[in-house]
Amino acid sequence: MTKLKLDDQYWNERYDTLETGWDIGYPSPSFLEYFKDKDRSAKLLIPGCGNSYEGEALYKMGFHNITLLDFAPISKENFLKRVPEFPSEQFIVGDFFQLENQFDFILEQTFFCAINPSWRAKYVKKMKTLLQPQGKLVGILLIHPLNAEHPTGL
Ligand SMILES: C[S@@+](CC[C@H](N)C(=O)[O-])C[C@H]1O[C@@H](n2cnc3c(N)ncnc32)[C@H](O)[C@@H]1O
Repeated sequence: MTKLKLDDQYWNERYDTLETGWDIGYPSPSFLEYFKDKDRSAKLLIPGCGNSYEGEALYKMGFHNITLLDFAPISKENFLKRVPEFPSEQFIVGDFFQLENQFDFILEQTFFCAINPSWRAKYVKKMKTLLQPQGKLVGILLIHPLNAEHPTGL
């Protein structure tokens, strides 16, 4: 169990002080490969999206039915500065656990490992409610024990 309070203030401060060691600075190639043949009208969600290079790349590939979600306001400010053509209302500053909607695909990119390990069961239940019956969770879920003390293991 981590002693850190992994709330919106904590994460916002990490963006503010540029302590973002998890940020690879480009879209994960495996997502681009996975989505290259998918229907462009698919409804996508990227929770805990941060700077969201994937969101930018997928939007530019024609996936316009995409919602980005992060509870750190600075992540939205940074994103819209970088990608001004992205519709602002499609980047929600809010808590994943409060979101009500359903999607065809939800992309997981270092979000699962950034929440308190004691919330993992809640994450699984919430994901199920956010997916359409045939919807898919796409990504890599890191469960390394280091995450117990260091969010993201970085
Ligand atoms: C390790 S960062 C990963 C950011 C991004 N996915 C990436 O790969 O660069 C985790 C992100 O999840 C966000 N986050 C953590 N808990 C959240 C929650 N309950 N609701 C929304 N966003 C959350 C943080 O603000 C942070 O931007």
